[in-house]
Amino acid sequence: MAVPQGAHLLPSILEAMRCPRCSDDLRIDGEHLACGGCEARFPFREGIPLLAIQGTTETWTDRTAEETSEEYQRAYQEVDEARKYNEAYRDRWTKRWSTQREYRLLERLLSSQPRSHILLDLPSGGGRLSPQLSRYGDLLVEADIALGQLLYGKGNHGGQDPRIWMTASAFHIPFRDEAVDAVVCCRLCHHLPTPDERERLVSELLRVARRFVIMTFFGHYSMKNWVRRARAPFDGQPPKMTMTIERVRELAGEHGAELVSYSPLSRLFSGHRYALMVKG
Ligand SMILES: C[S@@+](CC[C@H](N)C(=O)[O-])C[C@H]1O[C@@H](n2cnc3c(N)ncnc32)[C@H](O)[C@@H]1O
Ligand SMILES: [Zn+2]
Repeated sequence: MAVPQGAHLLPSILEAMRCPRCSDDLRIDGEHLACGGCEARFPFREGIPLLAIQGTTETWTDRTAEETSEEYQRAYQEVDEARKYNEAYRDRWTKRWSTQREYRLLERLLSSQPRSHILLDLPSGGGRLSPQLSRYGDLLVEADIALGQLLYGKGNHGGQDPRIWMTASAFHIPFRDEAVDAVVCCRLCHHLPTPDERERLVSELLRVARRFVIMTFFGHYSMKNWVRRARAPFDGQPPKMTMTIERVRELAGEHGAELVSYSPLSRLFSGHRYALMVKG
C-alpha cells in the first residue's frame, strides 16, 4: 500500500478507524483515505488525513440550534492563530502554572489505569499535553478539528515518540466502537454551548474508548461560576458553559462507564474539573 508522505504510521491503525460520515471501512487510495460505503474521499495535508466533519447538532439530529460551537470550530484552522494560542500557554506564567498542575493531574489519573496501546488525544490542540500523554501510550493519536493546531503540533514534534495526527470532529470520531484504549479530552466541553453538544461529546468519547475517558468540564457549582453568576446582573458577562458532577455521572452511566473521580484544577482559581470515567 503506497502511503502519503508523513503518514507512514497510519496503516497500523487503519483497521481501528471508520468513515466519520457513514461508519464504513477506510482504505488508503493514493493521496486519499477512501470510504468503501459512502465513497467519500478524504485528502491529506502534509501527511495529515482530513477527516473532520464541520458542524454541530444538525449533523447528527434533525435539529438546528441557535447557539452552537460552529464558530469556535473555525478558530484555529490557520496555523498563525494556533501559534498564538500555544505561545500564550508557553509565555504567561498563569498558563504555565495551569499546565504544570494539569500534567500532575494527568499523571495521577493515567497511572491509575492500565497502559494504553492506542491513546487518543481529542482535541489535541497544538500538542500542549502530548509530552505527558505519550508516556502512557505506545501510540499517541492527536486529533483536532483545526488543521492549524495539528500543523503546529506536528511541526514541533521532535520525533521522540510515535504519533499520528488527523483532523476530526469530536462529534464524529473516525474510530470504531471501543477501538482505542483510552481518550483524553481536555478543554473542549466548556466551549460547547448546549446540552445536546456536551452530551454528544461524552457519548462519542465513551463509544470509541475501550477502557477509560478523561474529560475536563467546567463545574456548575465551582467558586468561579458562583462569582460569575453573582456578577452577571452588573457586568453582563455571559454565563459559563458548565456541567454538574451529577450530570457527568449520569451520562457516564448511560454509556457503560463509572465516574471514578472529578478533581478540580484549582478550587479557588479555576472551575475546570478532570473527570475520569472508567468502563466496566
Ligand atoms: C482550548 S483548545 C484545547 C486543546 C488541548 N486539549 C489543550 O488542552 O491544550 C480546544 C480545541 O478544540 C478544538 N475544537 C473545537 N471544536 C471541536 C470539535 N467539535 N471537535 C474537535 N476539536 C474541536 C479547537 O480547534 C481547539 O484546538
Ligand atoms: Zn463513508
